[in-house]
Amino acid sequence: MLDTGLKILLVASEVAPFAKTGGLADVAGSLPKALLLQGNDVRVVLPRYRSISGFNTIGDFPVQVGPRKETCIVRTSQIEAKSPEGVRFVPVYFLDNYHYFDRERYYMFPDEAERFAFFDLACLKMCEALNFIPDVVHCNDWQTGFIPLLIKERARNNPVWEGVASCFTIHNLRYQGNFPRDVLYLLGLGQEYFHPEAVEFYGQVSFMKAGIMYADVINTVSVTYSREIQTPEYGEGLDGVLRKRAKDLYGIINGINYHEFDPKTDPRIFKNFGPDDLEVRKENKYALQREVGLPISDKPLIGVVSRLVDQKGLDILLEAMPSILSLDVEFILLGTGDKFYEEAFSALKKRYPDRVAVFIGFNGVLAQRIYAGSDIFVMPSRFEPCGLGHLIAMRYGSIPIVRKTGGLRDTVMDYDRDSGTGNGFVFEEYSAEALTEAVRRAVSVYRDAGYWQRLVRDTMGLDFSWNKSAALYTELYLEALGRKRRVERPA
Ligand code: GLC
Repeated sequence: MLDTGLKILLVASEVAPFAKTGGLADVAGSLPKALLLQGNDVRVVLPRYRSISGFNTIGDFPVQVGPRKETCIVRTSQIEAKSPEGVRFVPVYFLDNYHYFDRERYYMFPDEAERFAFFDLACLKMCEALNFIPDVVHCNDWQTGFIPLLIKERARNNPVWEGVASCFTIHNLRYQGNFPRDVLYLLGLGQEYFHPEAVEFYGQVSFMKAGIMYADVINTVSVTYSREIQTPEYGEGLDGVLRKRAKDLYGIINGINYHEFDPKTDPRIFKNFGPDDLEVRKENKYALQREVGLPISDKPLIGVVSRLVDQKGLDILLEAMPSILSLDVEFILLGTGDKFYEEAFSALKKRYPDRVAVFIGFNGVLAQRIYAGSDIFVMPSRFEPCGLGHLIAMRYGSIPIVRKTGGLRDTVMDYDRDSGTGNGFVFEEYSAEALTEAVRRAVSVYRDAGYWQRLVRDTMGLDFSWNKSAALYTELYLEALGRKRRVERPA
């Protein structure tokens, strides 16, 4: 165990269980627990949205956002971190402002730039107000993108910030936070930053680019994605900027919380099981089939739990569905997102009512039951920074079929029947045909019960917990500090 005792402030626009729309929230809610258990003083900060309740209030301070003088109220709660040694707690701070955050959803407002300019400014002021000056501020995605630059600016007038390092994690390069240039004024930054070598991006100001340009270290959530985004194909227009910072750009695969996601104890599934009681796992499958109205059978059950957006490869999945269904399988999908995909999958269910089940929406319980009851978990993503669904699926014994990209590529190795190696089925070309072919291979192994059971057992035994990755983050923080303070890294 690394016992470095770093002071870390992790900043994100969503943190599970308080606010969640995607994988970012899972990471922001679970990485801090692992960092705490490794001996760090880690705290987490996010906006206080209307839906968040159950907190104490610790104080307030003014924040100047361009012409507006706003008040930031600091609320607090905690995240419980269970370990064999007992329970410990990660402090959580909610930055509250009625004008910016007391609204019916988290994102997509006309004053988005101003809301997160306020948030970034308020994070620094909060540290000063609480007298908690971190060693490292760990920023996540565009909403936190200006914090690294604000730290440097602030250090000019307030020496406590001089030694504070920043780490910027890109969970998804597609969402960039690009806005008209007056956001610089809101942030109290000079127009000299409106420059291609600074934060200007195609005539706008980019929060994402700001994070990339000014953080001491940058990382993405898998090694492969950290390479992919340096190419025009995956770079979303920022590949040139990323190539310039290549020596400061790392890849660390996400983990999942092995206490929360444990088929042996998960209260949400029908019956608990481990790798050695796969017969019990089957009861979960039958119970799921019953619950969602599919015929109870031993046919391969293919599951999807996903945000229904372009990134996730749903166009090739839709195109492949008739061929996949011709392989005599059942299919269940849970997700929410673009209207187009919601309607297309609902139509599919109408067309194949006895083979296909579709649930549009968020449903944490059903999601777990799909991980525990499906045989195969499909994730045909066009691009995938890390992907979490397939990691949970593997832990619960559902074998992933993935496209060879990003974090999927780094965590799923193609199964080989002869050697018994591999933990899923991988295809490379982004096409319905390649996907169908991978499903065909999976289904043929499935029909060979001996091989399939061994594959399921071995896959459930793999380690995708935070253990390794949290240690890599601690190293990355030390790296950031080293660059900042030129301290020696411990061997
Ligand atoms: C984003 C990415 C996903 C990743 C998650 C957490 O949602 O699309 O691949 O797993 O962030 O890092």
